[in-house]
Amino acid sequence: MKRIGVLTSGGDASGMNAAVRAVVRTAAAAGCAVVGIRNGFKGLLEEDFCQLPPRSVADILQRGGTILGTARCPEFRQPDGPERAVEIARRHTLEGMVVIGGDGSLKGATAMAKAGLPVVGIPATVDNDIPCSEYTLGFDTAVNVVIEAIDRIRDTATSHERTFVVEVMGRESGAIAMESGLAAGAEAVLVPEHPYDLADVAERIRSGFQKGKKHGIVVVAEGAGSGIEIGRSIQAASGLETRVTVLGHVQRGGSPTARDRLLAAELGARAVTILLAGEATDGQVVVVQRGQIANVPLATALTGQCEIPAALLDLVEVLAR
Ligand code: F6P
Repeated sequence: MKRIGVLTSGGDASGMNAAVRAVVRTAAAAGCAVVGIRNGFKGLLEEDFCQLPPRSVADILQRGGTILGTARCPEFRQPDGPERAVEIARRHTLEGMVVIGGDGSLKGATAMAKAGLPVVGIPATVDNDIPCSEYTLGFDTAVNVVIEAIDRIRDTATSHERTFVVEVMGRESGAIAMESGLAAGAEAVLVPEHPYDLADVAERIRSGFQKGKKHGIVVVAEGAGSGIEIGRSIQAASGLETRVTVLGHVQRGGSPTARDRLLAAELGARAVTILLAGEATDGQVVVVQRGQIANVPLATALTGQCEIPAALLDLVEVLAR
C-alpha cells in the first residue's frame, strides 16, 4: 500500500492524537503516505482531506481532543453511505483506512470493510465499552480526571461532614464509575449494569457517619440514573445534607496519561502494520487482550458485553467500612 487514510469519529477521547501520530509515523517508516480525513465519516463523504506528512503530527501526542475533528454523520448511516465512502476513498487512491473511535465508529468501519475497503479500527472512547478489548483509548485519562475531582470533593465533604453524589460519564457503561469509585474510596458506586437499592445506599452512608466517618461519597454512572435525583433520594432517606456534582465533559479532554499514550503508540503502530501486510482486507480491530496487543476481526468486535464484576462493587463496600 502506498496511501492510506485515517479518521477520528464519535466522542473525542484523549490519546486520539497520539494514535494519529503513531499511524502517520509508522506508515511513513514503511514508505506509505497518510491522508487525514477531517470530521470523521462526514468529512469522508464531503471529501474534506488533508495530507499528513510525518512532521505534520509533531507536538500533538500530548494534546487531548482530536486535531482531525469529529462529527456525527446521519448520511453515512443511510444504506448507501458506506459504499459511497468506499467509492470516494478509492477515487482518492486510498488503499486502506484506519478508523479511531468508539462503538458507532467501529460499526461504520465494519460497514466500509464489508463494502470492500481494507479497514482497521482503533477503539477509542472514555466509556471503555468495546467488548473485544480490555482497554480503549481515553479511558485511563478520564478515570484519572474523575479521581482527582473526587479527591477534591472529599476534602470539602470531610470539612463539612457532608454526603456527595458525583455523577460521571457512561450512558450505557459503568466503567468510569467503577474504576474511579474504587480508586478514590467511594462509599458506593452505582452502575447501569447492576441493580441498586437507594434506601440501602442511604443507610450505608448514615451508619458510616455514625461510625465516625466524616464524609459519604457516592459515584453514579450517568446511565444508572440522574445524579441530581439520586442525591435528592439519598438526602430524603438519610436525612443527611447531600450535594451533587455532575462532572460532565470535563472528563473527555485533557492531556492523555502515560497509559493512554503508550496504548496509542502500540495500537496505532499495529493498525498500520496489519493494514500494510494485507491482513485487514476483511476488516480488523486492534485490541488489548490479557494485557497484550492483538487484532481481531471487526465483524466480531462488538459482539458480547462488557461486564462490571459484582465482586468489585462488593469490594467498594468492604473497603468503605
Ligand atoms: O464518549 C462517550 C460519552 O462520553 C458518553 O458516556 C456520554 O453519555 C456521551 O459521550 C455524551 O457525549 P455527547 O455530549 O458528545 O453526545
